[in-house]
Amino acid sequence: MEAQAAYELTMLKNAERYAREAGALVADRMNSPLRIQEKMNKSDLVTAVDVMSESLICRLIRDDYPEHWIYSEETDGAEGDAWQRMLQPREGYGWIVDPIDGTTNYIHAVGHFAISIGIVKNGVPVCGVVHNPLTGDLYTAMRGGGAYRNGEKLAVGQERGLGDALLGTGFQAKDWHPGSCAAKQIGRIAGTARDIRIFGSASLDLCLVAAGRLTGFWHDGLYPWDAAAGIVIVQEAGGKVTNRDGRPYALSDNTLIASNAIVHAELQAVLSTVARDE
Ligand code: IPD
Ligand code: CA
Repeated sequence: MEAQAAYELTMLKNAERYAREAGALVADRMNSPLRIQEKMNKSDLVTAVDVMSESLICRLIRDDYPEHWIYSEETDGAEGDAWQRMLQPREGYGWIVDPIDGTTNYIHAVGHFAISIGIVKNGVPVCGVVHNPLTGDLYTAMRGGGAYRNGEKLAVGQERGLGDALLGTGFQAKDWHPGSCAAKQIGRIAGTARDIRIFGSASLDLCLVAAGRLTGFWHDGLYPWDAAAGIVIVQEAGGKVTNRDGRPYALSDNTLIASNAIVHAELQAVLSTVARDE
């Protein structure tokens, strides 16, 4: 194996370990009283456990890779426009961390949340790990190496049209109102696709696309820490990930469409009939 691939494989294995350690902490604290704070509004929450999970992951990364950069939700998320920052990618390897993706589910003891760790080289995601500590599911992918759940190879679904498609979506906290583009898009998809799910953890929802359980997923305003790991997992399972204009998705994009590739153009066409929010 060439040196770079071997180095990235070691990073991936380490990321799996970090996600499992953080997952154990998060699962362990789930039934204790949680300290909850609102960030932007009532649908944008953080708990003390998010912060503990983040500190643990960042410490583990720094111990092993002191020369790498880290971009993580609860530490870096408040500092300006996340997408704008991704427009000037930092050089070299970096880690993009969501210590709990699906915090609202976590608070409500709904078992669909994950630790998401994306590894990026010169701004491009190269590896991803998404771990749900309650189910034990560990989704992993490395560029060119396939996508896996607990070691089992994944492949996207084979649905041929939107009429057979089960789709996922979600709301950015600021879009959680009836007039948002996201709400109107759901109105357009209703009756066209087989059905829609809003599971509440974008990284895991992307893994469901990779596993062929959801046919596709779209989300406006998804942050880099929600997407960085999951997009590699979808791509490595044979899926397609673009922005709403159909260009290959970049971490600086704030629209995302992921699918089994077959229904992609049809899904994109329906979503594009709704004007973007200002
Ligand atoms: C949220 C989840 C959710 C998505 C939200 C995200 P968080 O992440 O991924 O599915 O719809 O937009 O903010 O806040 O739980 O890390
Ligand atoms: Ca989070």
